[in-house]
Amino acid sequence: MDTHVAELGIACEACHGPGEAHVDANRDPRRRYDLHASGAADGTVVNPALLDKERATHVCTRCHGVHRFKNHTDRERWSEHGFRYRPGDLLTDTVDIDQDGLDKFWPDDVVRVTGREGNGLFKTPCYLKGEMSCLTCHESHQKPGDPRTRAEWADDQLKPLMRTDHACLQCHDEYSDEETLAAHSHHPPGSSGSRCMNCHMPYTTTGLLKAIRSHTVTEPSAAETVEVGRPNACNLCHLDRTLAWTAEHMEDWYGTPQPQLDEDDRSIAASILWALRGDAGLRVIAANAFGRDSAREASGSEWMTPAITFLMTDPYHAVRYVAERSFRKQPESARLGLAYDCVAPFETRSRETLEIFEGWGARARPGRRSGPELLIDEDGQLMLDVFNRLVSERDLTPVTLNE
Ligand code: HEC
Ligand code: HEC
Ligand code: HEC
Ligand code: HEC
Ligand code: HEC
Ligand code: HEC
Repeated sequence: MDTHVAELGIACEACHGPGEAHVDANRDPRRRYDLHASGAADGTVVNPALLDKERATHVCTRCHGVHRFKNHTDRERWSEHGFRYRPGDLLTDTVDIDQDGLDKFWPDDVVRVTGREGNGLFKTPCYLKGEMSCLTCHESHQKPGDPRTRAEWADDQLKPLMRTDHACLQCHDEYSDEETLAAHSHHPPGSSGSRCMNCHMPYTTTGLLKAIRSHTVTEPSAAETVEVGRPNACNLCHLDRTLAWTAEHMEDWYGTPQPQLDEDDRSIAASILWALRGDAGLRVIAANAFGRDSAREASGSEWMTPAITFLMTDPYHAVRYVAERSFRKQPESARLGLAYDCVAPFETRSRETLEIFEGWGARARPGRRSGPELLIDEDGQLMLDVFNRLVSERDLTPVTLNE
């Protein structure tokens, strides 16, 4: 290929389109002054904020999405002339935003890997029936007067307040009333269990060695976990509870019919099933959840040590890496010091974690929380037989979730 680059990196023209006409026109200071004074839009260049929701979202989806060429001719054209798409166009004029048969999606087509936020938004009711776009929550330039440091803004490039309920309340303002919200969420208003995104945009997308919020706004349910296999928002916080517990409360609170559940789903905490029996994609989501402060507060954390240390011996590097980060919040991690290295050879990295794992199970502690759902018997010891059975049932399907 004979390649030419106009601008390297994700620079101005990637989001604003070709700028030559804009630069030429604005050599004239009078034009600049008039535009500034009138506040009118400058028609010589694209401002994503002035595009409709679809075209605005397409600016970002060109990179933050999965799409394919419509046909062979288009592919050939691309290899000679590059992408035809320009900001302001409809991306769908040049490519199909289609994801059939790709393993980066859950069976109901919700994205499971970062970098495809566009595909996520295109399934969201707030986009489909409303005016939501990426720019509802994100801004590509930090605005003057923003009290956040540059680094705070740059981490996720969100508009002010967009980590809070405000992101949703700008359209669903009926829930700004605390009582209405508490009646809806069934959690006290100040609780993490009452924050919109914790139920509607849970951490079920993975990548960059962590989990991020799903960019498809969904409603949590136990059926989603049974039918699609995706961890539901309730059990991602209530890590110590069974799927049946969630199903019962969902029926109680929202009238959602309970799905058919097997014996394990009724008797063992959902997070333990994901960590021990799940495929590598589920295991990394569980490993991440064990380290989230809101989940640790809702679920207690002492009981997690065996599951987390076991994930630190996982065959997948990413699972081990994320599990270690969560383990650093456990008191036992002081004993391991900095010795653990998730990419060291198996023998080296396993010895100490296995010692902690076995030590935890054998060493009963008075007052340790017990219960069959946590695989801890009345003496405070790990129920190793059930633990080993679940591991022997682990889903070993190879998983590739590249970003
Ligand atoms: C990743 C996409 C992206 C890149 C790269 C980008 N912009 Fe923007 N730009 C936007 C969006 C989106 C807006 C709308 C406001 C916002 O989100 O900050 C915008 C708004 C603007 C505005 C209007 C500001 C206003 O207050 O109305 C100017 C001027 C601008 N960009 C200039 C630039 C320049 C110059 C560069 C390169 C140095 C650049 N942009 C790179 C996405 C981008
Ligand atoms: C309803 C608000 C909302 C909308 C709409 C939204 N985002 Fe986000 N986005 C967020 C929040 C909140 C985070 C931080 C998530 C977290 O803490 O993991 C985020 C994080 C991200 C990240 C960083 C992920 C990482 O690896 O840390 C990317 C990239 C991103 N969004 C892209 C997009 C794109 C592209 C669109 C449009 C297709 C979009 N977002 C629409 C709220 C939103
Ligand atoms: C030309 C490709 C391209 C375009 C267009 C683009 N992005 Fe990105 N974006 C990327 C890449 C690549 C990264 C990861 C960069 C990195 O990690 O250094 C990224 C990172 C991000 C992040 C994560 C920042 C962080 O580190 O927390 C957010 C949020 C984001 N983009 C939002 C958007 C939004 C919103 C738009 C549309 C206005 C957009 N991007 C347009 C390629 C693009
Ligand atoms: C830009 C406006 C806008 C924003 C921001 C927004 N929504 Fe929506 N949302 C809508 C519209 C419009 C609908 C469709 C309402 C209808 O069908 O009556 C909707 C529908 C929904 C639904 C119903 C889904 C269904 O299947 O019927 C849920 C749940 C939802 N939104 C949650 C949220 C959450 C949580 C947030 C914040 C992360 C949010 N919305 C942000 C506009 C928005
Ligand atoms: C972001 C974390 C989070 C999410 C998501 C969440 N909760 Fe909670 N939940 C909590 C916290 C924290 C408490 C403790 C009470 C309080 O201070 O709010 C709690 C309390 C409860 C309680 C009462 C105490 C108990 O343990 O019996 C029930 C029942 C409950 N949640 C069920 C659910 C269900 C069902 C869902 C999903 C629809 C859900 N929660 C989603 C954090 C969460
Ligand atoms: C504890 C979990 C939980 C929290 C927190 C939560 N929701 Fe919901 N939400 C649900 C469930 C479950 C449903 C579906 C059941 C139903 O229809 O009531 C739902 C349905 C919805 C709907 C569609 C039905 C309707 O009422 O129009 C919207 C919109 C919505 N939520 C918005 C929000 C907003 C906005 C927030 C934050 C201010 C929020 N939710 C916080 C669990 C939650």
